[in-house]
Amino acid sequence: MNDLESIKNEALSAIEQADDLKIFDDLKVKYLGKKGLISGQMQQIGKLPAEQRKEFGALVNRVKNEVESALVSKKEQLEDRALDARLAQETIDVSLPVRESAVPQGSVHPVTQVIDECIAILGSMGFEVKRGPEIEDDFHNFTALNIPPNHPARQMQDTFYLQGAEMLLRTHTSSVQIRSMEHGQPPFKIIAPGRVYRSDYDMTHTPMFHQIEGLYIDKDIHMGHLKGCLYDFLQAFFGLDEVPLRFRPSFFPFTEPSAEVDIACKRDKAGVQVGQGDDWLEILGCGMVHPNVLTNVGVDPNEYQGFAFGIGIERLAMLKYGAPDLRAFFDNDIRWLTHYGFGGLDIPLAKGA
Ligand code: PHE
Repeated sequence: MNDLESIKNEALSAIEQADDLKIFDDLKVKYLGKKGLISGQMQQIGKLPAEQRKEFGALVNRVKNEVESALVSKKEQLEDRALDARLAQETIDVSLPVRESAVPQGSVHPVTQVIDECIAILGSMGFEVKRGPEIEDDFHNFTALNIPPNHPARQMQDTFYLQGAEMLLRTHTSSVQIRSMEHGQPPFKIIAPGRVYRSDYDMTHTPMFHQIEGLYIDKDIHMGHLKGCLYDFLQAFFGLDEVPLRFRPSFFPFTEPSAEVDIACKRDKAGVQVGQGDDWLEILGCGMVHPNVLTNVGVDPNEYQGFAFGIGIERLAMLKYGAPDLRAFFDNDIRWLTHYGFGGLDIPLAKGA
């Protein structure tokens, strides 16, 4: 009896004084463990005379419970204290820069990169960026561009018509020439990047691709300006000292004269190299805006004239960054995007620009 009382007092005061979770575990073993002091008292029960057993048993149990709950509450107390100490010690510096490797990274698609580069270069030459709708009407995509209904030139472009055939997916960004001129006053000096659509699919054609349109209309703009503009642009874009270009006579209903422009390139196992070699690759269509087009948007062709061009964005991207298959541009394959993509902070300027 006395033993039990003193074990209890000793245990409670030891628990009271414990100020470390490690000591705490020792205490638990010492009093409540299988060979602990209180368990030892339990074993005494059998040795007592029968009439004392019940009372003593109950007593041991009560002591055991008391010690146990003292241990539990002490443990909580110690754990709370440890947590408070950790919280006070560990601070988070929210101003630290992000670890790059810890963040899943996206990349800028080459099409976006090239459009940004074109805008940077042509923008510095004074062209203003305009946009137009991708779902277009017949007038802006064809008629106003001197392609009347039933004109065979409509077959040049494999148009996606929408239900009822009144609207269509624009086949070129030339529709933005019309939209810019019909609501404004000359001079016009604009570029219009964006998606265009044609029903075509092979290694060099996808049903959706991108163009950037250029238009410069003023009182005395001539073909020399067009050539100078394209030379300067391509020189900056490809970072070349010399730009070997070939202006091939061509036909577009909305320009007269019209030309297609090829850039010299070399094809070998390593891919296509621009600016040298005996091969030619077509990269854009251009010409002097047809007087009928100017008349259609209320601009007097006797007073104003100028040039227009339409460049294939993917063509530029393939040539500059060496991606061989156009279809891969739109497969959304993360491996392709990682390889050909650009960092968000890459400056959208060509070297030499
Ligand atoms: N719209 C023409 C095409 O898509 C390109 C072009 C634009 C030609 C402007 C001349 C002038 O093929």
